[in-house]
Amino acid sequence: MTRPILEVVGLVAGYEPGVPIVRGASIRVDKGEIVVVLGPNGAGKSSFIKAVAGLVPVSGGTVLLDGDDITTLPAHQMVRRGLAFVPQTENIFPLMSIEDNLRTAGGILKPKLAAERIERMYETFPDLKSFRRISAGNLSGGQRQMLAVARALIVEPKLLVLDEPSAGLSPKFVSMVFSMLGDIRRAGMTILLVEQNAKAALAIGDRAYVLVEGKEAHEGVASELWNDPVVAELYLGQRPHQPPGGEL
Ligand SMILES: Nc1ncnc2c1ncn2[C@@H]1O[C@H](COP(=O)(O)OP(=O)(O)O)[C@@H](O)[C@H]1O
Ligand SMILES: [Mg+2]
Repeated sequence: MTRPILEVVGLVAGYEPGVPIVRGASIRVDKGEIVVVLGPNGAGKSSFIKAVAGLVPVSGGTVLLDGDDITTLPAHQMVRRGLAFVPQTENIFPLMSIEDNLRTAGGILKPKLAAERIERMYETFPDLKSFRRISAGNLSGGQRQMLAVARALIVEPKLLVLDEPSAGLSPKFVSMVFSMLGDIRRAGMTILLVEQNAKAALAIGDRAYVLVEGKEAHEGVASELWNDPVVAELYLGQRPHQPPGGEL
């Protein structure tokens, strides 16, 4: 059996000691896969993915990246080990030009290599090339996500991890972002993706996990999960539906 790119076993993590938000979650991502983590709002999806990326303190379990134990590695060392994380927000520098955004992302590379990789990103994302001198804050929502992904890819990571790349985008840009992720995977990348947009994510994903209360409650082939009654109950049936006036 080939070694998974990412193997998370029994991960426990949270923001305060003794208050776990991630409660024993386990997932695996094999080379070349897109794996999707779904779940109701507040299920702990962002906390889970941030704990994997070294941004939320871990108090139990293990995270192996291509066989290396990275469980307690601080976030800034993850990228050197091959895990590139694209947070949901603040994933670009809006006041910097596109080119400077890419240059800072390639900061751990030798300058010549960084310059080659920037050119490669311009080939992959021609929009970014035409806007390269423009401040990133002027980009559309879809183009911003493109830049955030390009910044992550510049180091040629083993695993690309994204937290809700389609959040807040109009439907046109949602399709653009998902089709971009499909292209990146076809180019050989391995992707772990957290998404609220279950339908779009399952359409490009290979396998998916449903996270409920900080633990994976269900796992399956992405194309089958959308019609799975367990998922419908766990996830789709749990859309927040506050009674008038809300709960006291
Ligand atoms: N920075 C934080 N500090 C303390 N608690 C947090 C923080 N971020 C999230 N939480 C809590 O963790 C729980 C899970 O949130 P989150 O991981 O954002 O879920 P999801 O991404 O699935 O919506 C929520 O109860 C939330 O209040
Ligand atoms: Mg979240």
